[in-house]
Formats: sequence, structure tokens, C-alpha cells
Amino acid sequence: MFFQSKDNKFTLYQGNSEHILGQLEEQVDMIFADPPYFLSNGGKKIQGRRIVSVDKGDWDKAESIDYIDQFNQEWIDSCKPLLKDNGTIWVCGTFHNIYSVKKCLNNAGFQIINIITWQKSDPTPTWGELHFNFSSEYIIWARKNPKSKHYFNYELIKELNGGVLMPDVWKLPTVGMWEKTCGKHPTQKPLRLLYRIILASTRIGEIILDPFAGSCTTGIAANLLGRKFIGIDQNEDFLNLGKRRKIDIEAPSRSIEMQKRIAENPEEVTVMVNHARRETKAKMIETGICYLRAGESNGSLCVTLGFERMEYVLLHTGGEDCQLFKLKQKGSFQIWAKETLESHGFTPAHATYYIVLKFDNTSSPKFKVPNNLKERINTYRAKVRPLSDFLDFNNL
Ligand SMILES: C[S@@+](CC[C@H](N)C(=O)[O-])C[C@H]1O[C@@H](n2cnc3c(N)ncnc32)[C@H](O)[C@@H]1O
Repeated sequence: MFFQSKDNKFTLYQGNSEHILGQLEEQVDMIFADPPYFLSNGGKKIQGRRIVSVDKGDWDKAESIDYIDQFNQEWIDSCKPLLKDNGTIWVCGTFHNIYSVKKCLNNAGFQIINIITWQKSDPTPTWGELHFNFSSEYIIWARKNPKSKHYFNYELIKELNGGVLMPDVWKLPTVGMWEKTCGKHPTQKPLRLLYRIILASTRIGEIILDPFAGSCTTGIAANLLGRKFIGIDQNEDFLNLGKRRKIDIEAPSRSIEMQKRIAENPEEVTVMVNHARRETKAKMIETGICYLRAGESNGSLCVTLGFERMEYVLLHTGGEDCQLFKLKQKGSFQIWAKETLESHGFTPAHATYYIVLKFDNTSSPKFKVPNNLKERINTYRAKVRPLSDFLDFNNL
């Protein structure tokens, strides 16, 4: 064993994964694997103002496609006995390795559940004039046993997506400097990506295994979310970096700080969807004022994740007459007393204080009407959804 944390929730082994996996006896609930993509093959990218070769290290180089297939089959076969029967595995890649990974998972008897596309909102510019900029990665999610029911945290994932089931394309930024304060790994994954994966497929207290742990992003996200972690890597420097990251989050203030950063997704523009009675909605549009009851969690926007990135408000009446407006100022609101709203011609009847958003009432942008706005029909129960849910690219 290379390292065991004081709380026994973070265990590291150093060595070749296939070899170590063969020695472990623990049964795990989920496996996350970020294996070599084998993309260090002479490609070019732009770093700063220079064109540089893509070279992650010798561990990322492969002699042939047969070598990639053999490598993937061996580690996948070695992982399988450690996974509980109802457990799932997530494996990352790009076109360099992902087709091989899928073939090897199928050979080993796994059943594919989803293939997630991680669309990087801030991709590294790639060099060359004969192709699109490389800006996505793929993550295969598969279950061990087609006959056992695997775990999917359906309600939470829906909630994280503003009340509708999350699609399999995730727009998330690449790893930020705030995640590299303990040192750097050449292919470090962002904590936000691991957070979503862990929340979707594991429960508190469960055990997650990462056979290519690197800087232990999986372990950090797992522990921040109350899950246990077992990580393997052959490189001592990377494991030491993982150990420093674990020690760093042992300070409660650091762990709270990290959790706050993870909860933000700075890229996503959001829309507040607000149901209003027909007369109230007409008045809102006439005045450019949208209001919600304050001081009660169902109606209060202050408690809604994503509020600070909000740029639009969509008004509707029971799912009908939808109109989208741009807010005058991103993420800003005012608290008004009932009397102030009355002085603007409204007749608020439910509370003493209201959250007020001001929008540009002169134009309604073109958008696609989602077919599921009737979910929450109570007046003042707003919800926040990503703008992409409302864009219809054929009509823009
Ligand atoms: C893509 S990186 C993982 C990065 C990690 N997800 C993170 O966020 O830091 C792959 C890692 O696998 C390790 N590795 C490559 N081949 C290995 C092998 N056969 N056995 C153990 N580790 C290996 C490398 O040292 C590297 O750190």
C-alpha cells in the first residue's frame, strides 16, 4: 500500500494496474477509469503562442492498435471481478481509444448504459487547417451485469438540470487553476465532471475504484461527497500529488471552499421559468417586471442553483403563451415590499416581500417552447433551466 488516509477513506496503491487489481480483494460499487488515451502521437496543439507537440508522457504512447486493444482488454478483465454485481463502470476516452474500450467492455460482458459526450466549454486550440478544433471527450457508462439493476440517482440528476432529465451531452469547463494548487498532472480531470458521475451512480458510503488514478481527482470528488476511494497508479509523483490533495481537503474550510467552486458552472447561461396568471403575466410584460414570492423555499429564487448566471426569464401561463425576455442585468434582483409592487399596478396577495427581476420588455427572442412546462403550475414557483433547452437552431 502506498498511502492510507487517517479517515481510512482514501487508499492508494503504486504499481501496474493489472498486477495490483489481481491482488485486491475488496468489492467495489463503482469503477471510474481514465486510462491512457494513447494520443501522444505527434499531434500539435497551441500552448500560449507556441505550437507544441501533444506529449503527455511515455505511458500515453502505443506501438499499434493491437497493443491498445490488448492493454484495454487486460485491465478491463482484471477490474471486473472486483465490481459488485449491480455495480457500474465509467471509462473516458477520445477517438484514439474509445472504440477499443467499447469493444473490450462488450467482450468482458459489460452492457453499455450511456455514452456521455463531455463538451469542453474552454477547449485547448488545436493546430492545423484541415480539421475542426478538438473539443470533446467521451465517457462510456456500462453495467457489469445486464440482469442486475444498477443504481441511477434519477431525481437528483433531474433536479441538477432544472427539473428535466439531463441529456448525455455535458458542457463543462476543463480543469481550472483552483484545482491545481497542490501541483499539476498532464491530464487531470475536472472535479465537476467527477462530481456529476459520482452523484449519478453511487450512494453515500459506497466504494469507488480508479485503476489509473493520476492526481486522484476521483478520490477527491469521492471523499468530498462522502464516498470511499481506492486508487492505483504506477507513477509515484502522481500519487504524491493525490496524497497532497487529500491532505488539503482534510481542513474543513478547504473542503467547503472546494465544494462551493464545484457547484458553480461558470459557462452555463440560465433561464428562469415562471408561471403567472394571465392578467399578471400581461402586466409583467407591460412593465418589464417579473416577481416571485420571497421567504419560502418553493418560491424563492435566492435558493436556486444557477441564479447568479441567469440572463433570461421565460414567462408562461400553465405552459401556454410562452415568452422569453432578456434580463436587464445578469443575475441581479431586488427585494420589494408588497406596497411597492402595488404602486406598479400589481395586486400581490401571498406575502409581504417579493423578489423582483427586471427584463427588457421590448423584444422576445426566438426560442423553442419546451413541451414540459406544465410540471409546476403554481404561480411564483420559478425554476432555473439552461438556455440551451430553449434554443431551436433551425429557427435562429
Ligand atoms: C489519463 S491519466 C489519469 C488522470 C486522472 N484522472 C486525474 O484526474 O489526474 C492516466 C494515468 O494512468 C497512469 N498509468 C498509465 N498506465 C498505467 C498502468 N499500466 N498501471 C498503472 N497506472 C498507469 C499514468 O501514470 C497516469 O497518471
